[in-house]
Amino acid sequence: MKNNLVILSGAGISAESGIKTFRDADGLWENYSIEEVATPQAWQNNPELVQKFYNERRLNVISVKPNDAHHYFSRLQEYFNVQVITQNIDDLHERAGSKHVLHLHGNIRYAKSSGPNKEKKYYLIEGHELKMTDQCEDGYPLRPHVVWFGEEVPLLATAAEMVAQADILIVIGTSLQVYPAAGLIHYAPQNALKIVVDPLAEKLSVPGDFKLLNYSAQGAIPFLKEILGH
Ligand SMILES: NC(=O)c1ccc[n+]([C@@H]2O[C@H](COP(=O)([O-])OP(=O)(O)OC[C@H]3O[C@@H](n4cnc5c(N)ncnc54)[C@H](O)[C@@H]3O)[C@@H](O)[C@H]2O)c1
Repeated sequence: MKNNLVILSGAGISAESGIKTFRDADGLWENYSIEEVATPQAWQNNPELVQKFYNERRLNVISVKPNDAHHYFSRLQEYFNVQVITQNIDDLHERAGSKHVLHLHGNIRYAKSSGPNKEKKYYLIEGHELKMTDQCEDGYPLRPHVVWFGEEVPLLATAAEMVAQADILIVIGTSLQVYPAAGLIHYAPQNALKIVVDPLAEKLSVPGDFKLLNYSAQGAIPFLKEILGH
């Protein structure tokens, strides 16, 4: 029987693909502040700016490729039951071939209603641009399928159950500063093998039972191979 391998990934795994992380960019995300582009208030105050910001992010995502780390985790499906839980809104895990990917914070390639039933249905966006005139069938304008700061994380409980089933948990490329996602590591069983991959890992406050690999996502692959045997 295959062991359950759970990957909890964040912006850092996609950094070497050419998508900027969030906290490494001096507190600014591509020169915008969180408040003006990634909150429900931002959408209320200036939806055009929010659309523009995510249209730019979507163009970036479409134009880059999965890197060796995304591909490595996809290959591990041969040896483990791999469940990816990603905080990323890019789709690079899927494009590398990972079959089980839960997007905690949504998927930028999709749109959803900006009305009260926003989690009812997701629409694949053709190309990179979502326009203010693009309407959902419920009559509300479509907004990006992302979870903004201050919004509920609908898949959190599902993700916690997945982490609780882990034989191995790899936390990679996340500063573990965005809650509630960061709290997921505490659901891992006591006897699971737990690994953190992050070039700044020593600065992260992870519990002592995590093995720290102080490397970039791609740089850590040889060490992960040694630990996992594949
Ligand atoms: N690619 C994306 O979809 C993307 C990009 C930026 C931000 N976000 C969103 O912003 C929030 C930020 O939280 P977060 O913890 O994911 O990101 P974060 O920016 O807070 O932290 C990124 C972490 O990645 C590490 N890192 C940097 N380069 C790396 C590399 N080459 N390999 C491995 N690790 C590297 C950093 O040291 C840092 O700890 C998330 O909710 C996420 O949805 C997503």
